[in-house]
Amino acid sequence: MRTAEIYSCRNIARHGDKVYIVRRFVAYAFGDNSDVALRCVVCGAEYGPDFRLFRCPRCGGLLDLVVRGKYWAPKGSGIWRYATMLPMKTGVTMGEGRTPLVESRLKGNLWVKFEGANPTGSFKDRGMALGVTVARETGAGKVVVASTGNTAASAAAYAARAGLKAYVVLPRGNVARGKLVQAALHGAEILAVEGYFDRALSLVVDYGTKYAYPLNSFNPWRLEGQKTLAYEVYEELGCPDNIVVPVGNAGNIYAIWKGFRELGELGLCAKLPRMVGVQAAGAAPLARAWREGLQNPLFLDSPNTVASAIRIGRPVNWVKAFIAVRESGGMFVEVDDTEILRAQLALARADGIGAEPAGAASIAGALALDLPGVTVAVVTGHALKDPDVVEVKTVPVASQEELISALSR
Ligand SMILES: Cc1ncc(COP(=O)(O)O)c(C=O)c1O
Ligand SMILES: [Zn+2]
Repeated sequence: MRTAEIYSCRNIARHGDKVYIVRRFVAYAFGDNSDVALRCVVCGAEYGPDFRLFRCPRCGGLLDLVVRGKYWAPKGSGIWRYATMLPMKTGVTMGEGRTPLVESRLKGNLWVKFEGANPTGSFKDRGMALGVTVARETGAGKVVVASTGNTAASAAAYAARAGLKAYVVLPRGNVARGKLVQAALHGAEILAVEGYFDRALSLVVDYGTKYAYPLNSFNPWRLEGQKTLAYEVYEELGCPDNIVVPVGNAGNIYAIWKGFRELGELGLCAKLPRMVGVQAAGAAPLARAWREGLQNPLFLDSPNTVASAIRIGRPVNWVKAFIAVRESGGMFVEVDDTEILRAQLALARADGIGAEPAGAASIAGALALDLPGVTVAVVTGHALKDPDVVEVKTVPVASQEELISALSR
């Protein structure tokens, strides 16, 4: 189907013929032989590409997309550069991805993948490009997310671009200012609820999905867009030995792992990287369980860390994150807030990269660990997202003489 036809699908959706549009869209996205399926990561059951199926009907497990017949032929920009690896061939874009991969001066063999350089300043844009495309083409009209802030900012912007309405459900008082400003600027309806992110998410799961298309990371279509980070690293650096990722709701670490695993399946990566998930010490349900050799997370009800984006006590994607870390021979680790803030400053001053605290957690992890070989640390969000954590010192200058004396110090 050509772009013009896709747009005509959107018009049909506006007139309400949803069954027709879903059929047309499936045909467009997957071809008539449908080589895209959903597979349960727990029991392996397979289902057709249903955009509203988020849990396995048989066992309740998380679902993952299977794209058969994919091949490596990068072309163009944004996540759609990797269309031949994705379940859809084109869609909403703002040129997300293409983020800088910078050799760090902090440590030998350390590279920084700066996701803060995405259009709304975080890695979420990769997923939203795909997720919002699904919402638009299936005639959803509205999208909804629970968010610690970055998902809200990204959903608001991509929904605006696609002409959809966005609702963002936020934990009141727990969202950094820059992210709130973005959600407001892009015209999202901001619904502030009591409690932590985990409560906001369960409200979206229980009520939101009836009224709007949910774009949290339990939605496998959204996560699929995030695997493109692996492809970009591969194009620039080949297959590194370690990928270090901050972990909150635990979707991104799986998405990146999946991207590398697919490169391995296609014979492009001979050796796959170890996935290292970094959590903040006050919000480390996976890292603590890992340290104690447990099979299940040690969920917590009152997560606490300066890194508000990963202040999450019950990561919805924990099963996928365990799969990523186990399959890759990696690990989960925790870093405390002091290490996070120190890493944020060190990265800013040695490499010129401004990370929000959650984004700097991967740097803190990479500096604390002695990982062999080449390491890529994913810095997931921009410093301007959370301006209040940075101490700003100014020197008052009242005269030319004072200025000259300051400049000569
Ligand atoms: C800046 C930043 N880093 C890391 C994460 C955690 O990502 P995930 O929930 O996929 O583990 C988030 C999620 O909100 C984020 O905004
Ligand atoms: Zn299942």
